[in-house]
Amino acid sequence: MSGNARTSREKWGGNIGFILAAAGSAVGLGNVWRFPFITGQNGGGAFVLVYLLCVLLIGLPIMICETTVGRWAQSDPIGAFGKIEPTPGRRTRTVAVLLFLSAAALLVCRHYGQGAILMILSLTLAVRGWRIIGYFSALVPLVILSYYGTVGGWTIAYFFKGLAHSLNFTTTEGAAEVFHSVEAIPGVSVSYQLGFMSLCAVTIWFGVRQGIELVSKLLLPLLFLLLVVLIIRSVTLPNSGEGIRFLLYPDFGKLSAEGILLAMGHAFFSLSVGLGLLTAYGSYLDADKNILTNSLIIVTLDTGIALLSGLVIFPALFSVGMPIDQGPKLVFQIMPIIFNSIGGSFGWFWSSSFFLLLTIAALTSGISLLEVTVCCLVDHFHFKRRSATVLAAAVISAIGVLCSISFDDWSRLPALQRAITFLFGGAKGSMFDMADKLSSSYLLPIGGLVISLFIGWGWGTDNVVRQLPAHPAAADTPEPSLAARLFWGIAIRVVAPAAIIIVFLHTIGWL
Ligand code: TRP
Repeated sequence: MSGNARTSREKWGGNIGFILAAAGSAVGLGNVWRFPFITGQNGGGAFVLVYLLCVLLIGLPIMICETTVGRWAQSDPIGAFGKIEPTPGRRTRTVAVLLFLSAAALLVCRHYGQGAILMILSLTLAVRGWRIIGYFSALVPLVILSYYGTVGGWTIAYFFKGLAHSLNFTTTEGAAEVFHSVEAIPGVSVSYQLGFMSLCAVTIWFGVRQGIELVSKLLLPLLFLLLVVLIIRSVTLPNSGEGIRFLLYPDFGKLSAEGILLAMGHAFFSLSVGLGLLTAYGSYLDADKNILTNSLIIVTLDTGIALLSGLVIFPALFSVGMPIDQGPKLVFQIMPIIFNSIGGSFGWFWSSSFFLLLTIAALTSGISLLEVTVCCLVDHFHFKRRSATVLAAAVISAIGVLCSISFDDWSRLPALQRAITFLFGGAKGSMFDMADKLSSSYLLPIGGLVISLFIGWGWGTDNVVRQLPAHPAAADTPEPSLAARLFWGIAIRVVAPAAIIIVFLHTIGWL
């Protein structure tokens, strides 16, 4: 057992528990809802290829950094990153000064919102050091889970509608009407969103082993079973080959700079990396587990399930000749039409199975997002787990209500729109769009960049590599080989951060 371990800390019951919980977090709406619709909007195969490269070159190394720090520190992300550098050193203070100067410049140029945020960051960094990554872990779920909860609510609504045979439309107009009856009526969308949040909160209330681990162990196998049944249905449709070709054949002409940023952001989003979630999950992991093998399994499961979901959706879309670039509504509006036209009187069965799959995927991920905030409140701010759960769920649900009532535009939140326009110079789309884009295209990649730089250059990649095998602190554990140190050293210090920076520069047109 590592000398740092505190025995009172709750732990996963076993390795399978950890893998299923982490995979449950990774496999979510990102795989079944977001991956198909952004692949549809960005031209298919080439986008998928860039996504896979981002998963391997950026996602995997950062996942390993996050998990190793958590297990080593045996504490929430705030405590864990604080433990690496308890008081800000010279380099940290230099970074803080640079950030402060940039903040001042932004304020002078009247970028008030960005300037104020950077100013707060620079001051926090100067005083609290790299615990700042942990604060980020505690706060970013507020943004992600607010809109995630909205979609999670829709999945539950659609599951019940499927069972009640009310997804029996066969035209896009009929589909739009049903979607509208869920999304556009605040009473309905907010109730389902709160229902979804309550399910997440109840699970977290019961703790790591009796809550998260138990729910993941029950639901993930069911998710897999549903997926297999749906794939068999989809790929045996006439003309399904075209959909498979769309998903797998890269046509680089269809890939834009924006598409590359989306693919990278989605790699973070889908693997649940970039905000320290795996630091929290890793902190519940015992010393006798191998982090490298576990990470490889989680990445394979997550990527596999995204591709398999593509195999459910695209063959069906192409077979029935439905549009593929419908955005967030894609799976909600188009999939029931397809199930009705191929399933005959069993359409309701396929639709409710599909939305049950989506609900399960959303739940296990929503649970993990809530857990990061709760973990920080418990360890760092000494809350009781149950009060932390209620507080975090209440705050997130309140922000989520704003996303629920503003899926299409800002018309229900004019004051907020004006405030955001004043602070940030514009407020495109809606609160929902903003939360989605801000979290996956910016917050997670920036979080990942800071984590890889701080872990790579601050903590040192040798510490990461030493934590990879089981029993890292045991006397008979061999020192890591030179090859392993070089490989992970380069991946964490150079490849991951450079790739993130290149994608950002490419997006703003500097490359
Ligand atoms: N990975 C989840 C999905 O694909 C979303 C998610 C859950 C997440 N927990 C996270 C994303 C933590 C980033 C960080 O739907």
